[in-house]
Amino acid sequence: MVAPQIDRLLADIETLATFTEPDTPGWTRRFPSAAYLAGRAWVRQQFAAAGLQASVDAGGNLHGLRPGHRPLPAIFVGSHTDSVLGGGKYDGPLGVLGALEAVRSLAEAGIVLRHPLVVMDYLAEEANDFGVSCVGSRALSAGIQPAWFERQHLGLTLAEALVQHGGSPAAAQQRLLQPGDLHAALELHIEQGPVLESQGVAVAAVTGIVGIRRGMFELSGRADHAGTTPMSLRRDALAAAAEIIVGLEALARNTPGLVGTVGRLLVQPNQSNVVAETVTFVLEIRSLDMQQIAQGWDAVQALLEQACRARGVGHKLLAQTDTAPAIPPPWLAGAVLAACQAVDPRALRLSSGAGHDTGQLSVVAPAAMIFVPSAGGRSHTPAEYTTPEGLLAGVCALAEAILRVDQS
Ligand code: HGY
Ligand code: MN
Ligand code: MN
Repeated sequence: MVAPQIDRLLADIETLATFTEPDTPGWTRRFPSAAYLAGRAWVRQQFAAAGLQASVDAGGNLHGLRPGHRPLPAIFVGSHTDSVLGGGKYDGPLGVLGALEAVRSLAEAGIVLRHPLVVMDYLAEEANDFGVSCVGSRALSAGIQPAWFERQHLGLTLAEALVQHGGSPAAAQQRLLQPGDLHAALELHIEQGPVLESQGVAVAAVTGIVGIRRGMFELSGRADHAGTTPMSLRRDALAAAAEIIVGLEALARNTPGLVGTVGRLLVQPNQSNVVAETVTFVLEIRSLDMQQIAQGWDAVQALLEQACRARGVGHKLLAQTDTAPAIPPPWLAGAVLAACQAVDPRALRLSSGAGHDTGQLSVVAPAAMIFVPSAGGRSHTPAEYTTPEGLLAGVCALAEAILRVDQS
């Protein structure tokens, strides 16, 4: 009988949470930062302490390998340990430390799997100012585009930050995995939404992960005196951005299944009495339907050109990333749902509005996720919380899913 130990998992989560950037709210381990580096070094020690063979690949992903008794394609089980600025303790760490706990409890139950099992800490899942999220899992599934390596964030180029984490920019340009290299990839994650908690259900099998198209745009107007410049002569980049942001919101409100957000905006010179000269912002749209994303993006482009043309403001797309919607193949979806139902017969089937490393892995391997409840549906905030019962249910479902996938 596999019996994950909640006390061990809670202790691991609390210890990893001590690695946080100073003078930041909540729990913050951004890529790149000393806290993130130190946290991953600690995770690597836990892999070794659990008897796993630890290594880092060219994409900066941390592997903890437990060999199987057959020379078969591996099963990856993991998530990420980087966070947003002012994030919580569970978004990512539950998936890495929960996988570690599942592997430990399988070993303690004397179970040796047929397939090699690899606990994964994928590098840099969260959105960042390099303009590239899911850096490690993207390197595995698609490769990192050379043009992205020179981008700067928190004082380093993407290439320098990748090397800092043991990666190799040259080798990471080509995808590191080929279809068939993996038997399956599994990820345990908090729901980051209210459904499981509101229905009093412990776990959910994730039916699909939204696709995300994300663009970093620069609008170029002209700095002018806010008092003496007639409205008709202004080239106000911030006013143009405001029209685009409100237009995106209206578009998404009127398109069921589509969400659109501008969550990051930088204004230059950012003075209350100066007409804005330059605005840089990141715009993203998400949907489970790739065609809806493409149509939404085209509508946003038209909106952007109109808002800029009306004000004599220039615009440039500085960076764009695309992640397609990810749906697990039926055999894997069935195995994961059965594993969840073994833990809670009322297990739900939920789609994910959040992006995940599993979305990248699904490009080259059968990949699926399990959700546990988020208190109040909150995430990406220090208020993020999941009860010990919820955490344990997730790890039990994950261990059960590993056993079923290993037999499939
Ligand atoms: O942005 C996302 O959806 C994920 O939480 N990084
Ligand atoms: Mn996140
Ligand atoms: Mn996450």
